[in-house]
Amino acid sequence: YAEEDRNSYEVYKETADWLRARTARCPKIAIVCGSGLGDLADMLEHKMVFPYEDIPHFPRSTVSGHAGRLVFGELSGRPCVCMQGRFHFYEGYSISTVTFPIRVFFLLGVEILIVTNAAGGLNPHFQVGDVMLIRDHISMFGMGGQNPLRGPNDERFGVRFPCMSDAYDQDLLSLAMESAQELGFLGFTRDGVYCMMAGPCYETIAECRMLQALGADAVGMSTVPEVIVARHCGLCVLGLSLITNTAVMSYGSQEKASHEDVLRVSACQAKALQKLVVHLISKLGPN
Ligand code: 6GU
Repeated sequence: YAEEDRNSYEVYKETADWLRARTARCPKIAIVCGSGLGDLADMLEHKMVFPYEDIPHFPRSTVSGHAGRLVFGELSGRPCVCMQGRFHFYEGYSISTVTFPIRVFFLLGVEILIVTNAAGGLNPHFQVGDVMLIRDHISMFGMGGQNPLRGPNDERFGVRFPCMSDAYDQDLLSLAMESAQELGFLGFTRDGVYCMMAGPCYETIAECRMLQALGADAVGMSTVPEVIVARHCGLCVLGLSLITNTAVMSYGSQEKASHEDVLRVSACQAKALQKLVVHLISKLGPN
């Protein structure tokens, strides 16, 4: 697939139509499951599962052992669709491939996008295992010119120059904080600014210090492209980062960022994050 080939309205629409013909209820909520957070999709009731390779035009997952499938079903009685396994730029996908599913969700009638990820904590008050509600983002990646909206603009999705000062929905953020309180999660729920790096390297110490000085609270390798495309087509976005490790800030530190730590911590705290999402969805309107 050449980048331009997949990136046309007709292609997104064929994929959406194919899925709509095979699913019972149209989901209003889409959830992107980050690293180690895919169990959320298993919690759906009345599941219908579509491996990515069975869906027309859908990108394929490259990472073996990583589930790559769309799961339709219900959470708290609300119809939802979950991406179990996302596409990362560092895997070699073009930026429009990374965001392909988001426009399919839009064409399916989705109105709310919940994105989750594993991230490194930059804020010194954050601890491993914290859940950070994303208030805003900084894209070091985007500043290098990698914007998923680069190229001709299709007005059927959105405007040429979309606003990003309201990228993360205030009401969803408040609802998430309220949910955290009701669940007794306030002790480990934070909010802050997520910074995206292209990856796959973790940051140097100097880079971590720079990002912290710039106002970033957590750093990761995903989410921003999906959020930009979602906002372009008018979806309301809630972002959640699980802090799986603390970014290394000093030369004396013996700590090292590792994917093993990321997976270990997400295995422990994924349950809490899932509960938060399910509780939050139960507080949304009945449709
Ligand atoms: Cl420390 N950095 C980045 N870029 N991504 C991460 C991370 C750190 N921890 C989890 N994901």
